[in-house]
Amino acid sequence: SLMDQVLGMQQIELRLAEYLGIARCVIATGDSDKQNQVISRLGKLLYQLLADQLPDGENIIAVMGGTTMAQAAEQFENLETAKRHNLFVPARGGIGELMNVQANTVSAVMAMRTNGAYRAIYVPEQLSLNTYESLLQEPAIAEVLALMQGANCVIHSIGRALPMAARRKMSETDILLLKRKGAVAESFGYFFNEKGQIVYKSPRIGLKLSQLQDVPYVYAIAGGRSKAKAIAAYMKNAPKQTCLITDEAVASEILKGA
Ligand code: F6P
Repeated sequence: SLMDQVLGMQQIELRLAEYLGIARCVIATGDSDKQNQVISRLGKLLYQLLADQLPDGENIIAVMGGTTMAQAAEQFENLETAKRHNLFVPARGGIGELMNVQANTVSAVMAMRTNGAYRAIYVPEQLSLNTYESLLQEPAIAEVLALMQGANCVIHSIGRALPMAARRKMSETDILLLKRKGAVAESFGYFFNEKGQIVYKSPRIGLKLSQLQDVPYVYAIAGGRSKAKAIAAYMKNAPKQTCLITDEAVASEILKGA
């Protein structure tokens, strides 16, 4: 019966959260690799969580980019109430990727759909150290960075290391390095090995992984069996308060090894 199915899924959600050592997992039926609409289901679940969990007051929500985030944003509806106001900011600069999957665009779409506010940050994704340091001094950038650093909510996705390296147009040398170091996952511009250790950081403007530790609301949204290994690796050292929104295929692949 439907009741059994719902109870069955709740059991799997609890087991997965326990196995990954994080606060909570929410699982949608299906496999995002096979059916694109599963990502929209993940987006709906994420929206529900935000609607239920975001506290009253002024929230600052820092969001990452990517195709998952972009599709999830399309599922959002109002999140404003008389007492709750939300400001969306990108969790990273980055105009290196296609316009519609940039963090700036995703945060603007989320803000518009939820009737919230947003601020953008316009800096390239890949930067030399010198440029990076001088950009940090720019008042318009410093202001949004300060907002980003004061975020009480962060929403991000997780990708596989090598496809992300290719998408970010990283150099051959860096890609070789990633392979040699056994990189399997990417998030926030950090690359992780199977143990969840950072093996590479791209110099970029955005949230640092260490800053995530103190953020009360952290949501990771990623699905598709092909991402199971990357998701499990990232979660090894993820902030404990992380809530993972994923699909059945990822859950069964990860728990197969449990
Ligand atoms: O670009 C942001 C990001 O969250 C990355 O950190 C992650 O690796 C990637 O998106 C996942 O991208 P996609 O949703 O397109 O697979």
